[in-house]
Formats: sequence, C-alpha cells, structure tokens
Amino acid sequence: MRIAVVGTGYVGLVTGTCFAEVGIDVTCIDIDSKKIDNLKQGILPIYEPGLEEMVTRNAQKERLSFSTSLAESVQGCQVAFIAVGTPPGEDGSADLKYVLAVAREIGRSMTDYLVVVTKSTVPVGTAAKVRQAIAEELEARGADIAFDVASNPEFLKEGAAIDDFLKPDRIVVGVDSDRAEQVMAKLYKPFLMNGHPLIFMDIPSAEMTKYAANAMLATKISFMNDIANLCEIMGADVNMVRRGIGSDVRIGNKFIYPGIGYGGSCFPKDVKALIKTASENGYSMEVLKSVETVNERQKSVLFNKVDNYFSGDLTGKTFAVWGLSFKPKTDDMREAPSLVIIEKLLERGARVKAYDPVAMKEAKHSLGDRIEYGKDEYETLIDADALLLVTEWPEFRSPNFAVVSKLMKEKVVFDGRNIYDCKEMEEKGFTYFGIGVKQ
Ligand code: UGA
Repeated sequence: MRIAVVGTGYVGLVTGTCFAEVGIDVTCIDIDSKKIDNLKQGILPIYEPGLEEMVTRNAQKERLSFSTSLAESVQGCQVAFIAVGTPPGEDGSADLKYVLAVAREIGRSMTDYLVVVTKSTVPVGTAAKVRQAIAEELEARGADIAFDVASNPEFLKEGAAIDDFLKPDRIVVGVDSDRAEQVMAKLYKPFLMNGHPLIFMDIPSAEMTKYAANAMLATKISFMNDIANLCEIMGADVNMVRRGIGSDVRIGNKFIYPGIGYGGSCFPKDVKALIKTASENGYSMEVLKSVETVNERQKSVLFNKVDNYFSGDLTGKTFAVWGLSFKPKTDDMREAPSLVIIEKLLERGARVKAYDPVAMKEAKHSLGDRIEYGKDEYETLIDADALLLVTEWPEFRSPNFAVVSKLMKEKVVFDGRNIYDCKEMEEKGFTYFGIGVKQ
C-alpha cells in the first residue's frame, strides 16, 4: 500500500513514520523545503523519544521518503492524510486555510481514486469542506475521478507518541462510503494486534470525538485543580483524595493529578475551539467555560504561593526553576505554565535561573536572556532563595537533596506537580509547598 502524509509537523511526522514502520510505503510532504532537506538527512523539526531513530531506519529501507511536491507524491497513493497545522484564529476558532489549500492541491493533482483523510484536529464539518474543495478543483479541470473523504482523529500524546500510535487504545475513523471503509480497514489492520478496536462511524461524529476526548480530559484536570485548591483551604490532602476517588473504576486513576494548569498545543486550543463552535451554533458550553477559567487561574497558583511566602517582596530574590516544557519528554513550550510563572517573577524584579533537559532552546525564543539557564538542575540552585518545580521530568524526581540543601541559600521548595512528599521534605529540613497538600 502507498500513502501520502501532507504536513511534517508533530502529527504528520509520527503518522508517516509509524505507517512506514509496519511496511507501508509512505511519502511525507511539506512546503517547507528546509524542513524536507533536514528530514532527508535525518534531522527532525521536533523532539520525540525514539522518532529520530525510526525515521532514519525507515528512510534507509526506502519505505519512508520526503518531498516538497504534493502533486508528484500523491500519484499511485490510495490514501492521502492531511496533517497540516490549524492555528487558532484570534477568536479561538481553528484556521482551516492550510487544510483547504492542501485539499485543493490534491484535487488539482490526483489521477486515481483516493481517500483523503483529515488527521489534523479540525472542527466538525471540515471533512465536508475538504470534499467540496477537491470536487471544485476536479470539476475545474474537467476530471471525473472518484474520491472519498474520511476523518481520522489522532489521540497521541507528546512524549509517548510512537507507543500511542503503534499500540492505540482505539482508532476512530469517520467515513461515508463502503469503499473508503475498506481502504481504511486495510491500512490500520497492522495496528489492531493488541485487540483494541477500530471504530468506524459517520464523519461528523469522528470529528466531534476528538474534541470531546480532549475536552473531557481537560475537564478532569481543571476539576482536580479546583478540588486541590479547596483541599488546601479545608485542611485536606488532595493526594489522599485523588487515591480515594481514583480507585473507583468509573472515575479512574488517570488524568486526575492536580498541578499548575494544563498547557500544550492541544487542550487549550481544543477547549477554546469547542466553546466557539458551540456558540456559533447557538449553544453555550458552560462546563467548558469554567474549565478554561479554572485553568487560567491555576497557572498563577504556584506564583501566588511564592509571593505569599516572601510577603510580596520578590525584588532581587533568586529562584531556581526546574522544568520549562509544558510536560516532560517534550521540548514543546506552547502554552507552558512555566512562561506565566516566570513572567510574573520577572515582573516583580526577581532573578530566575532555569534548567530543562530538552526545552531550553525552545524556551529562549520567548524568554531570551531575561533569565539565566543552568547547565544542569543543580547549577540553578546556587544562591537560590527557593526552588520551583514546574515540569515533572523523571530526573527531577529523586535529586540528591544533600547537595540541593548545600547549594541553596534558603531551603524552600514550591512543588507545582506534587512529585515530592511533604513529610519527607520537612524531615530533610525543607520548607515545602505543594498543590492541595497539607502544609
Ligand atoms: C493531549 C491528549 O492527551 C492526547 O490524547 C491528544 O491526542 C493530544 O492532546 C492532541 O490533541 O494532539 P498532550 O497535549 O500531548 O496530549 O499532553 P497530555 O499528556 O495530555 O498533557 C496535557 C496537559 O495536561 C499537560 O500540561 C499536563 O501537565 C496536564 N495534566 C495531565 C495535568 O495537569 N494533570 C494530569 O493528571 C494530566
């Protein structure tokens, strides 16, 4: 089988590479020739564990190739995935200009039956627009070629993308023809070995499934952040409450970790877009509006604790910040809570020394030299008045606390992810603040 994947961003690159991994002939296409040149040399535009090795290996086996020419690459393909960006417009709705431009180019260049699949997260109704764009282009050149559209939302998580793709919990495909269903079933057969389902449904339901999944997960997080804040006020410990409720299988123990708010390229954008879609159609998503409000508030919670502890005087104080990316195992800084926290510290005249295992280059784009960057986590602690744990990278979980104590000016830790145990930290002589834990 031969497929084309248009867009070599995060989703496109993982999708193309994982299809190649199971033996499918894949061409990944991008208009950015620098990106394509780099990919041909095995240089990736993103950091994702295991991806570089997989790209190189599949390229060597000639199952994975890279091109700037959609028109050439689409020849002989049975499926074309559209995985280009859908940046949020000013009003929060997803901008479809790249998706529809790709659809038009497919319409101008396809020569045989093709299933055109939207893989980017796109609002309900997008596949219908893609169909129309392709049909218009075919008509303009007087070509009578059959095609189908399908919606195949992606559920992979940054940092665990390869595993998520190769061993998915489920694959959702929206189709409206038997022919497209057969093609998609054949394409995904190699991924169903672990018994998880390939769920076919109508196209709008598939499009909605993606938003509903992310909105539900964002809701769990905001709900737990609200509970955590109330736990603090009431003298309860959210870690206990989390265990207490998570053992109920109806609730589940995943995605109920309170922290400093969700970030990344997906939850904030998708929650906003769903609220927008609803309001455009005369409906108000009350729960999701609150999910967003709680999340914005939560990004300030750690800073407020710092501010309280130092009685509002942060001028000239030095803060070590461990972790910058919005979550571990990625260099993605989009909507990272670290940015909000650091900006607030800087605004108040504080000095910030940060370390992140992979995201420092990305972070420099927005923070520049307004902060200092440590060569490792320990270096940031020299003369620090407090440590702020912002991203729960595995290497921060069990540091050498004797060294930490020695390096810091004051032994104060603000743990935005509850990775340390309050009691143990106090026994080690630290003043410890977590999220929703008893102080
Ligand atoms: C998310 C979804 O989990 C994926 O299923 C989906 O495919 C993806 O969005 C997408 O739409 O492309 P991702 O943004 O990579 O994946 O990251 P997550 O691991 O879901 O984390 C999102 C945010 O929630 C992070 O800021 C994380 O720190 C926060 N979080 C997560 C919590 O605060 N508490 C939790 O218990 C879990």
